[in-house]
Amino acid sequence: MKAISIGLLGLGTVGSGVVQIIESHQDKLMHQVGCSISIKKILVKDTTKERLVAVEKGMLTDNPEDILSNPEIDVVIEVMGGIEETRGYLIEAIKNKKHIVTANKDLMALHGPELLELATDNQCDLFYEASVAGGIPILRGLVDGLSSDRITKMMGIVNGTTNFILTKMSKEGRAYDDVLKEAQELGFAEADPTADVGGLDAARKMAILSTLGFSMNIGLNDVEVQGITEISEEDLRYSKKLGYTMKLIGVASRAGDRVDVSVQPALLPEAHPLASVNNEYNAVYVYGEAVGETMFYGPGAGSLPTATAVVSDMVTVIKNMRLGVNGRSAVAPQYPKQLKDATE
Ligand code: NDP
Ligand code: HSE
Repeated sequence: MKAISIGLLGLGTVGSGVVQIIESHQDKLMHQVGCSISIKKILVKDTTKERLVAVEKGMLTDNPEDILSNPEIDVVIEVMGGIEETRGYLIEAIKNKKHIVTANKDLMALHGPELLELATDNQCDLFYEASVAGGIPILRGLVDGLSSDRITKMMGIVNGTTNFILTKMSKEGRAYDDVLKEAQELGFAEADPTADVGGLDAARKMAILSTLGFSMNIGLNDVEVQGITEISEEDLRYSKKLGYTMKLIGVASRAGDRVDVSVQPALLPEAHPLASVNNEYNAVYVYGEAVGETMFYGPGAGSLPTATAVVSDMVTVIKNMRLGVNGRSAVAPQYPKQLKDATE
């Protein structure tokens, strides 16, 4: 097969990890896909800024058309974030027959069905494993590993920033603002951390998880959301005294003919397995009628863990190109629009 060319949208925390993995794992990747892979162009806002990874100067561009309508580019990896502008870019890329890998849960929670349908219509792949729980392969776990089961409930920690904040506040007695600043410096927090601390980031992830886990189209409006902004250092001290640990917990469960989805702070007994998931780590329990319970655990944010999911999606896209089966991806099924149409 011919060499595969990648266009990267974004070279921040995740984009830098993608460049690092594609470069440092090149032999393994070539072995897996049977051809060489190279990044041709990288879209950034500011081409003069100092970067976390070394890239050739000519590779950076601030003109999206250098990627979206570049006939040399086969796969577009979107790690720039944002919603409306990014949606437009991905629509254009798909119409130009480019396969897409994205880490963008904001976009997928809001416009996932539209983009997946467009990708399918254009025989393009669209994978988004990194959009939920960073380096944990939970979307594939649900869609492939548990495809034969009927999921009854999912429950877990799906935001790294808030888990990092709650861990450091309760275990080290540090102040909220101070820990949030550290989470931003470490690249865990979103460009605007309001979505993290307000629970919206976790709600978006629960909407994506629920859509896949329950095979129905669950949107952000279906999720009840409360973040951690009202949690005080005193609340955490008292919880600890009483033998509880505070975590921001997402829950999605079947309730008769509907699915209830929520994100809210919860007190867990210290012996509960989720109580010992610390820092930026995430964990999700999935309950199925046949499997019973299974838990996914790992780094929920950060450069290399998230980039692992992104690059693994890219590998799948290239394998599909070799087999000529793009656009028929298991992670891009058509779901009913109404919860009630799909419950049984
Ligand atoms: P960063 O803010 O670190 O990086 C964003 C990159 O995109 C920067 O290189 C920026 O350019 C570029 N960019 C942003 N907007 C534009 C634009 N309008 N035009 C051109 N370039 C643009 O973000 P992250 O790497 O942290 O996150 C990227 C995506 O991955 C987001 O969707 C996020 O939700 C998701 N994600 C992040 C995780 C994490 O741990 N950080 C984990 C899982 C998912 P410049 O550098 O010039 O400013
Ligand atoms: N801001 C997100 C988090 C990044 O903290 O979980 C990973 O999606």
